[in-house]
Amino acid sequence: DKGNHRHFMAKEIHEQPEVVGRTLAHYVDMAGGRVALPEALPFDFAKLSRLSITACGTAYYAGLVARYWFESLARLPVDIDVASETRYREAPLEADGLTLVISQSGETADTLASLRYARSQGQHTLSIVNVPTSTIARESSAMLPTLAGPEIGVASTKAFSCQLTVLLCLAIHAGRARGVLDPARERALIDALITVPGLMAEALTREGEIEGLAREVSKARDVLYLGRGTSYPMALEGALKLKEISYIHAEGYAAGELKHGPIALIDESVPVIVIAPHDGVFEKTVSNMQEVAARGGRIVLIGDAQGAAEHGLDTLATVTMPDLDPVVAPIVYAVPIQQLAYHTAVFMGKDVDQPRNLAKSVTVE
Ligand code: M6R
Repeated sequence: DKGNHRHFMAKEIHEQPEVVGRTLAHYVDMAGGRVALPEALPFDFAKLSRLSITACGTAYYAGLVARYWFESLARLPVDIDVASETRYREAPLEADGLTLVISQSGETADTLASLRYARSQGQHTLSIVNVPTSTIARESSAMLPTLAGPEIGVASTKAFSCQLTVLLCLAIHAGRARGVLDPARERALIDALITVPGLMAEALTREGEIEGLAREVSKARDVLYLGRGTSYPMALEGALKLKEISYIHAEGYAAGELKHGPIALIDESVPVIVIAPHDGVFEKTVSNMQEVAARGGRIVLIGDAQGAAEHGLDTLATVTMPDLDPVVAPIVYAVPIQQLAYHTAVFMGKDVDQPRNLAKSVTVE
């Protein structure tokens, strides 16, 4: 049932404040100002020397965001790869180390094969899945659910934001276990996390502006997405979302990689979507925006009021997100990224819920 929405994807985008809130309530002791996992994990984060993450598609991008969180909040080294590579790489994995797999469906063939490989190496396996009865959930040594509810649209939206929510909670839990986060810092992170559903609701109100912007984007043959830090995997996710439902060619890049090649593509016909909350790397991203502007590129900034006031460049548009703690930015910024892809595809008359050539669950290699 799509409710009063035209597509499941629209419904699922709009459900995010609610399902992220529900997921948070499952992982956070609000009164205590700390993460409280629903069950004890059968390994100790303090004893790990490394975390290996594997997943496919959007779930892989959630893992890429989480790498920044595990490294900065828990000082835990992370390696991460797409599951179609992990399963054949013959990577040496330490016995008693930890492999984390992320999957909405819990049935993705490559992710399942990577999980089995990790087990064969004597690793603990932890899965973050949206379907708790799935094969991946059953075969992992521990499972943390995302409480997104059934996701029907082929393009993953609410499962992604719920994956990010669980991953941030897990990184905070790991940071405490590893003696990196003291109670005051943990409480501050929880304070930021519990504002997220409200911030997502606010982000959803920018839909009218994004619809206008989508008309412009729909004329493009190629679109570039740029970001630094956690906004880099968000750029990858933005590009994936746009290409899978609108069939416009889109690429995501780390903003600092621009001058190592992709800048050659830039001219007036290429919209450049810059994802840049006012965080510790914002100024660095502005210097990349200047490089784009100098070559006639048309910049769309997905950022905040402070950043918009500071950069001083001509832009095609600015999508203004609410002020927030940069640590939670990926969860909130997922909203405009999804809406831009959605409205572009709808404007072009594409079937957003059933895009060509794609299946909701990829159970074959
Ligand atoms: O069910 P999974 O999370 O394991 O699926 C992984 C990918 O197939 C999935 O995220 C895919 O990339 C989506 N179509 C992205 O919108």
